[in-house]
This record gives sequence, structure tokens and C-alpha cells, in this order.
Amino acid sequence: MTIITSQSSPAIVVDGTSFALNGNNVSYRFHVDTDNAAGDLILDHFGGPLTEDPVARIARNGGGWSTQAHLRREFPDLGRGDFRAPAVHIKHAKGFAICDFKYQSHTIVKGKPDLPNLPSTFGSDDEVSTLIVHLWDSCSSVAADLSYSIFPEHDAIVRSVSITNKGSEAISVEKLASLSVDFPHDDYDMLQLRGEWARECTRGRRSVDYGLQGFGSSAGFSSHYHNPFLSLVSSSTTESHGDAWGFSLVYTGSFNIEVEQSPQGLTRVLVGMNPSQLSCPLGPGESLTSPECVSVFSSSGVGNMSRKFHKLYRRNLIKSKFVNEPRPALLNSWEGVYFDVNEATIDRLAQASANLGVKLFVLDDGWFGDKHPRINDKAGLGDWVVNPKRFPNSLKPVAENVCKLKVAGSTDDTRLKFGLWIEPEMVNARSELYEQHPDWILHAGDYPRSETRQQLVLNVALPEVQEFIIAAVTRILEDAPISYVKWDHNRGTHESPSPANHHAYILGIYRVFDVLTSRFPDILWEGCASGGGRFDPGILQYFPQVWTSDGTDPLDRISIQFGTSLVYPPSTMGAHISVSPNEITGRSTPLQFRAHVAMMGGSFGLELDPDVMPEDDRAQIPGLIALAEKINPIVIRGDMWRLNLPETSNYPSALFISEDGNQAVLFAFQIRTTNVHNYPFLRLQGLDPSAKYKLDVDGERIVSGATLMNGGIQFRFGSDYDSKVVLLEKV
Ligand code: DGJ
Repeated sequence: MTIITSQSSPAIVVDGTSFALNGNNVSYRFHVDTDNAAGDLILDHFGGPLTEDPVARIARNGGGWSTQAHLRREFPDLGRGDFRAPAVHIKHAKGFAICDFKYQSHTIVKGKPDLPNLPSTFGSDDEVSTLIVHLWDSCSSVAADLSYSIFPEHDAIVRSVSITNKGSEAISVEKLASLSVDFPHDDYDMLQLRGEWARECTRGRRSVDYGLQGFGSSAGFSSHYHNPFLSLVSSSTTESHGDAWGFSLVYTGSFNIEVEQSPQGLTRVLVGMNPSQLSCPLGPGESLTSPECVSVFSSSGVGNMSRKFHKLYRRNLIKSKFVNEPRPALLNSWEGVYFDVNEATIDRLAQASANLGVKLFVLDDGWFGDKHPRINDKAGLGDWVVNPKRFPNSLKPVAENVCKLKVAGSTDDTRLKFGLWIEPEMVNARSELYEQHPDWILHAGDYPRSETRQQLVLNVALPEVQEFIIAAVTRILEDAPISYVKWDHNRGTHESPSPANHHAYILGIYRVFDVLTSRFPDILWEGCASGGGRFDPGILQYFPQVWTSDGTDPLDRISIQFGTSLVYPPSTMGAHISVSPNEITGRSTPLQFRAHVAMMGGSFGLELDPDVMPEDDRAQIPGLIALAEKINPIVIRGDMWRLNLPETSNYPSALFISEDGNQAVLFAFQIRTTNVHNYPFLRLQGLDPSAKYKLDVDGERIVSGATLMNGGIQFRFGSDYDSKVVLLEKV
């Protein structure tokens, strides 16, 4: 049966019990085993396009004593002789932990069904089709459905798994990987995004070694330490050459990624929720559906893999109406005045913003709390009422005044917009909320409730807590003209009442996000978790942008933003200019360098008090905002080509090309100046070789795409932290 057609072949082809998923440049093929492990699903191919199975399905030298170790299993279970890490672990009522899932039937559907209560990629019947393979364990009466959706245009295969207890006794799901793939070789590298607060998403590459290796999060959210993303690449793969597979988990909770190189020369990849925080009880008739994992294949390097993710996520994941819209240049109050906010400060900062050409003013932390005012990070979280001492007339007139301010330099009477910071999942012990509902806070019996940044976490798994958050945020948003919300989340979970509560929390917060973003679709929502602690595809379903990092030092930011772009579209990154020397690193950098780095993010802004800027710098801001606004549509909707990586080059650079290919913007940076040394030629990529482009490098000129890509541009840089931004226009 055939559902939709990719460029060369039907997207789903079933021949008896052999299955093929075909994208424009990918094929994924598996079959039901009839010999070794009858009924198991065995993978035949995941890579470049083909229309028949590879010449040998399973060939091995010698016997070995394991019956399954040489098999490429689609849904590896536990307890029956496959001694690699399993994708599924179920504890049955009688205590044993064995599964024996066999093929029973399959279903093909047009389009892609939603996942129950979870964010997921979506698409029309023309864009995606889905194969669901039904497996059955007759010894335990447990069913497993493996769902495979293929987006042919993006070479993306999306998988999730659903377990249903059809027996008469309760079971517990201890592990359920969304994706499991057995690769046929043992010569791969793995790329991951790792870091810490203020240096998230730094790209790391290592060879896959013998045995089990991996990473994950147990913080209760995706975390600063590791992102729920893995790329497996051939050891010779580069940015622009070679095979690259990307795996991205659409989930905001704790996760687990395992890569296992086996003695038999295979490499297994498992991606899913963190099993140490699962133990999900399923009564008779109940189901657990895993989040989905998006896999993308590129045969032309890591850069192409990233561009496929970017397009897929912009078109088929992010639901906000702002997804493809240029974003307003903003000023956020945080690094300028921190908690020191009141009516007078806001009036002053907003006026200064409007004078510089800023379009959106954002009031960050410090505006709320009555009995326990939020004047520092010790009190007030949970009490979502305006601080009456700081804002005696409430927030409404303050916001209305902001919205009356005319933005300098605008030709069409543009007025400043008002945005607000909130952190609704959190509570300080010093708050009225804690006094009234101590039982709403995450806790486990009599264990002390551990504090981080003096704050605790509400148990969002509880329906009454979800309702409280929805009502509190609705009241704030209905009370004042608010165009933008920054939703913060500044700590990991603590003392969970049960392992299963972790996943229930995430389902709860997804419900809250869904209700609020559907109720307020005209608000531009931004995610944040002490910067990029929750930069993941689950968040992006609801919020089209995320504050990428509290690290605003532009040198660190190049690595953070290039790393983040491995999977997430540049349109989703918040990037602001802050003061120099940087408040975290102490490093001094020129304003232009800070601004050019920030322009590579979809949401460009300022994170400082303009009134304490050096006069020369302040004078440059209107021009830099005008440049950012010109470039922004290309960054939001275009394709990103990483030309030189910050890990390996003193001259990191990136080219963004508009969707129609008619415009492009080149960012080129010099980190350190080198004495008596020629500057390198920067060769562009992704242009039309036969087209002519107009650009201004030491004077306007018209050059062919071939010249720019094969010859390149040699910039004359100045001192340390120099940067160039060049606009290209097809003529
Ligand atoms: C952490 C965020 O990342 C900052 O931008 C700021 O909003 C603070 N929280 C406020 O407490």
C-alpha cells in the first residue's frame, strides 16, 4: 500500500511483512523476522535512498553464543538473550521483567495522528504519512504500537511507542525508549550539545567506543548540562560532507540517550525518557505513550542535517503564529537594573528604549508580591499580584504609558509594546502561596524540601496547581496590554513524590502551555530556564523562541548559538547585547561585535540600561537596530550555513540565505588578531554558482556565486573581536 509519494518513490511501501519508508534522500527499511527470532522486527537499512533491500540482510562470520547479538532489532526487549541495552523494560505483576513482542499487524494512515497530551510534529496528508506496527506479547497480554511517520521532503522519520496493558493485573513500565536503531558498523562519532548555566549547547564530538556510553538529564527538565539531541556521524563526516543522522527528542523532561558499540560490530542508539524517573504504573486497559523522537538523515554533512531540522521544526513543530514573523527589537530590564524596578524606573527605561528605536520593552523579574515582595530572589514567587509599593497604580497604567511611547525613527507612528516576565511553576517558602498551600509544593513525605536559588517547585502534576497557574497567568494577561511573555523556570525538580510524578509534571505543564497559548495566540511567548536550561523541541511546540543563555558574552555566545543551531532554527534563539566588560566573564568586547553576534538570533535585543552606556556606544544603537531589522527576516525564514566553526577556527562565520535565494547575509568574526599573517579567504556555500550577487566589501561590487564559493572573500580585519556583516543581493 502506498500513501504519499516522495520525489522518487512512494513514502510508505509494504511488501508482505517488509516495510519501507522513503524520503527524498532517505530510506528506512525493516521486516518481520522469520528465522532467528521469529516475529521480531529487524532493521535492514537507514540511510541514503534505495528501492530494495541491501544485498545481504544479516551476514556474520562465526557463531558466537548469543542468539540475538548479531540482529539489528527495531524494538529490543529485555530478558531473552539480547544482552545489549533494551528499549523496553516492563515489570509484571508477578515480578518478572521479560517481554516478547511479536508482529501482529500494521496500519497505515494519511497524515500524522497527535500524540495524547504530548507535543508532536504535525503535517497535512500531503506532507506526512504514518505506519503503525502493532506488536503483541502473548505471555503477558501487553501490546506495543510502534508509530513511524515519514516527512519525505525533510528526510525525517518520527517514531514513538505506545504500551497498553490488556491483561488483568497492573504492570509497571520501567523503561520505554522512543527510538531504538541498530547501526550496522562500529566506526562512528557522536555529536552532542553539552554545557552548564551560561554556556549551554556547546558542541562536543567523540568517537563511539566499545561498550555503553551516553548522557541525559535527571533534573526534571531537559537541562543546561545536556540537550535531548544526538547526532551519529561517520568518522570522516564534516560540516559539508559525509553521512549524518540526527536524533531529537520532543520532550522537556528528564531524558536518556545511550549509544552502545557491541562486540559483534554493531552500534545501538536509544533515545527516550529517563528510566530512573519513570516506573509508570499501568492498570488493566491503561496505556503509556512515549514522546516522539525525530530522526533526520543527511548524506552531505552535519550542516545539511541541521537545515533539515530547522525547516521541519519551523513548518511542522512550532505552532505559534509568529513562527515565520520578524521579531521586534526589544529591551529587557534584567541585566540593566535587575530587581530594582518600579514605576519611575520603568517609565525611564521605556522612554530610553523608544528613543533608541526599540520596539518592545520587557519588564523582567521584581514587579510582584505584596505581603512578601519580590525585591530579591528570597521571596514572592507564587504571589502573582503587583507589588503595591513599587507600582501603586498597578501594572495597567504603566503598561499603557509604555504603549503610548512613539518609537524614534519609525515612519509609521509605531508605538512601543510592553512585555512581562513570569515564573509560574515556582514558589518561594516566603510567599502567601506557600503559606496557603504547602501541600502543592513538590515533596516526598517528611524529607526536607531542598531549595535552589531560595525557591521550590510547584507540583504541576496536580490538576489544582495547573488550574491555579492558568488562572493566575490569565488574570495578569487580561489586566494589561501585554504583547510578549517570558516564561522562566529557574531550578530543577526536587523530592518528587514518586518516580512517575516526573512525567506527570511534564504532561501537566504541557497542558498549561497548551491552554494559555491557545487562549492568548496574539502574545509572543518566549521560553527561558535560567537561559537555555529548557531549550528543547517540546517547548518550541508552544513558544516560538527561547532565551538562549544567560551567558551574553559574545565570544561564548558564538559557541552557544552555533551549537544550538545544530538542531534548533536560528529563528528560535533570543540574543541580546549586554554591557562590556561582560558581567559574568569580565571580558571586554566592542559594541559592534556584541551586536553582530546578537543579530544571528531570531529575537534581537538589548539587555542593559541605555542611560549608563558610553555616549559613543549609545549613539550607534539606532543604526544597529536598523541593521538587525533589515537582516531579521532572512535569519527567521532563511537557511543557515555554518562556514567556519568556533571550535576549530579563529574566524567563525555563517551565511544565512533567504528562502527564495535572492538575499543573503554573511556574518564573519575574527576572535584574535595575528601579527604579520594573511587573512584567510572565506568561501561561501549554498549560493547559485551561475547567479550574480551585489555586495559591499570595501566598495560595492557584483560577483558570481561561483566566485564567492570557489574563490571567496578576503576580509581585512582590525583588532581582537572584530566582525563584518555583509548583505548579498541577487541581481
Ligand atoms: C533567569 C533568566 O535567565 C534571566 O534572564 C532573568 O529573567 C532572571 N532569571 C530573573 O530572575
